[in-house]
Amino acid sequence: MTELFDAPVRDGAIKLHGPEGFEGMRRAGRLAADCLDMLTPHVLPGVTTAFLDDLARQFIIDNSALPACLGYRGYRHTICTSINHVVCHGIPGQRALREGDIVNVDVTVIVDGWHGDTSRMYGVGKVSPRAKRLVEITYEGLARGLAAVKPGARFGDIGHAIQSYVEAQRCSVVADFCGHGVGKVFHDAPNVMHFGRPGTGEMLKPGMFFTIEPMINLGRKDVKVLADGWTAVTRDKSLSAQCEHSIGVTETGVEIFTASVTGQFQPPIET
Ligand code: MF3
Ligand code: CO
Ligand code: CO
Repeated sequence: MTELFDAPVRDGAIKLHGPEGFEGMRRAGRLAADCLDMLTPHVLPGVTTAFLDDLARQFIIDNSALPACLGYRGYRHTICTSINHVVCHGIPGQRALREGDIVNVDVTVIVDGWHGDTSRMYGVGKVSPRAKRLVEITYEGLARGLAAVKPGARFGDIGHAIQSYVEAQRCSVVADFCGHGVGKVFHDAPNVMHFGRPGTGEMLKPGMFFTIEPMINLGRKDVKVLADGWTAVTRDKSLSAQCEHSIGVTETGVEIFTASVTGQFQPPIET
């Protein structure tokens, strides 16, 4: 019974984690990144997103972990697959990938209660130069957000680092979805905005765990959610890209729990 009462919950406070939290998140983050690495050679023209979902689920189960999204708020899949103008939460299905698509795959695994949440962009065969450019801007936006993470900085500094760069490239930052605290709770406090003003928001402290997961559009920032209740798309049908890491604030900066062991920050996209 104790465990039931002690189960971690989202209570609005930003949790500060110790060494065992870092250890747990390293293992969860590593497995989530491994899952995306595993999928890479399968993201090809003709492959359905349902097949990628099956591969991811099997991989996670084979590694004695749990797919966090399966059953989460009624979601029935392991990954989200967001193609082209889909901003996030695309539902895997019988839609086959086509040459030239860009697709975000977002996976969250649970290892010993810890959540590793990460997503990447994949190019399906050769993609257009503008699609590749959007993907590169999105990774650079995430990189700039990560570079702003250190004790004493504020959440607004992260958002500002992303927004100022992305808007200077004449792209837009989606405002309707944000990053989140992460740990034993999947979506914990705080909400991590990908836009903002320097020096505003809560101060970052060692032991805070959260995601940064900017969604960047080639056109306007406006999104709508389709009738399925999940799929978010750009209102102007412009291309959208996203990438996500789960991170911890350290004494000196940031630890990226979901970094790929291949050492690649941004997987290659062919044009
Ligand atoms: N992984 C997503 C995130 O980055 C959440 C997906 S929720 C789901 O927060 F239910 F759609 F899977
Ligand atoms: Co997330
Ligand atoms: Co995610």
